[in-house]
Amino acid sequence: MRVTIFGTGYVGLVTGTCLAEVGHHVVCVDIDTAKIEGLRNGVIPIYEPGLEPMVKANFAEGRLEFTTDAAAAIAHGDVIFIAVGTPPDEDGSADLQYVLAVAKTIGTHLQRPAVVVDKSTVPVGTADKVRATIAAAMAARGADVAYDVVSNPEFLKEGAAVEDCMRPDRIVIGADSAVAIEKLKRLYAPFNRNHERIVVMDVRSAELTKYAANAMLATKISFMNEIANIAEKVGADVEMVRQGIGSDPRIGWHFIYPGAGYGGSCFPKDVQALARTAQQYGYRAELLDAVESVNHRQKEHLFELIVRHYGDEAALRGKTFAVWGLAFKPNTDDMREASSRTLLRLLWEAGATVRAFDPEAAHEAGRIFGERSDLTLCEHASDALQGADALVVVTEWKQFRSPDFAKLKVALKDAAVFDGRNLYDPAEIEAAGLAYYGIGRGRSIQSR
Ligand code: UDX
Repeated sequence: MRVTIFGTGYVGLVTGTCLAEVGHHVVCVDIDTAKIEGLRNGVIPIYEPGLEPMVKANFAEGRLEFTTDAAAAIAHGDVIFIAVGTPPDEDGSADLQYVLAVAKTIGTHLQRPAVVVDKSTVPVGTADKVRATIAAAMAARGADVAYDVVSNPEFLKEGAAVEDCMRPDRIVIGADSAVAIEKLKRLYAPFNRNHERIVVMDVRSAELTKYAANAMLATKISFMNEIANIAEKVGADVEMVRQGIGSDPRIGWHFIYPGAGYGGSCFPKDVQALARTAQQYGYRAELLDAVESVNHRQKEHLFELIVRHYGDEAALRGKTFAVWGLAFKPNTDDMREASSRTLLRLLWEAGATVRAFDPEAAHEAGRIFGERSDLTLCEHASDALQGADALVVVTEWKQFRSPDFAKLKVALKDAAVFDGRNLYDPAEIEAAGLAYYGIGRGRSIQSR
């Protein structure tokens, strides 16, 4: 099939590439000329495992094209995806200006029937706005071309986006037209193997499904962070508690890892946006508000543990902290809403210096923070330890999992490790002569 994708960010680029990989002819369009030029020359704007070779191969075979020419791209597609950004507004609701600008462009140029697909995460009711915007643009030029608007949310995880796209656990299609449903079923047939993965529903339910999925996952995390904080107070170890509850299939092992708070482009934004939507409909989503505020507080928790160790904030002045991990999670260079940003800000405000290492996000950190005398971005994890007083682990990259604790003891002047992702066994670290602080590990924290 002939597919057009507006937006070459995470979602657009991964979706377009995977659709090309299974044989569709995909044209990706973006207003960012430099990005399109780069993509044509094999420069992939994001780090995502497996993406680069797939883009290059499909581009070379002509199944994947990149353009800034919106009119030509619209002429190409039987199915036209809107996969542009929906950044949060000042009040936390999703900003639809980019989505609706694409809708207007489609209405201005559409010459033959097409299915327009909302792929971006958009509030309930957006498909109606997209439909109305296309209709208005078409009316303005006196045209009347048939089109359907469908909601087809993505469930891609950064760092595993290609895998999630090629092997989805479900494909949600929200539509009120039989023709559109048939077209999307055909489009996704190559991904719908072994058992039925396509769930067809009405448009509004599909729009809400995306928010419900992310809000549920964020709730699990905030819930566990709350339990971790209680564990810390009462002298229990949340890692034991996690193992004690995860085996119950009603609870499950996934997304019950306490830590330094959730970040990324989805959870923080989507939980807020869903709460705002509820509010607009006159409902106060108390649980969602709590999920957000627990997370907000959790991002400051590592810093609180550091202050606790040193007695007070003033004692941090002039200290140097090695920070391992800047990305909001492993296998990505994305630092949007990353817990590391809160930690660094608080450390700097307290007059401390940071030596940070991240396998992928150093360039992003350089872009965000610029040159500053209290930040050194290091090439290796061990470089970050040079001259440091203590180590703080913020992102659970695999390579941080088993450091040589004896070496850490020698390198760190104050011999203290703050483990924001509970990677280490407190007993093992303490046996090496280091002070250990994890998240919700009350037994070892209370002994100090
Ligand atoms: C998420 C959803 O998983 C995905 O389905 C959706 O389409 C987009 O949002 P992503 O933001 O890429 O994906 O990351 P995810 O792996 O879900 O992690 C989000 C954050 O939660 C990370 O900061 C991670 O460290 C944190 N997290 C995750 C925890 O703190 N504890 C956990 O148990 C799981």
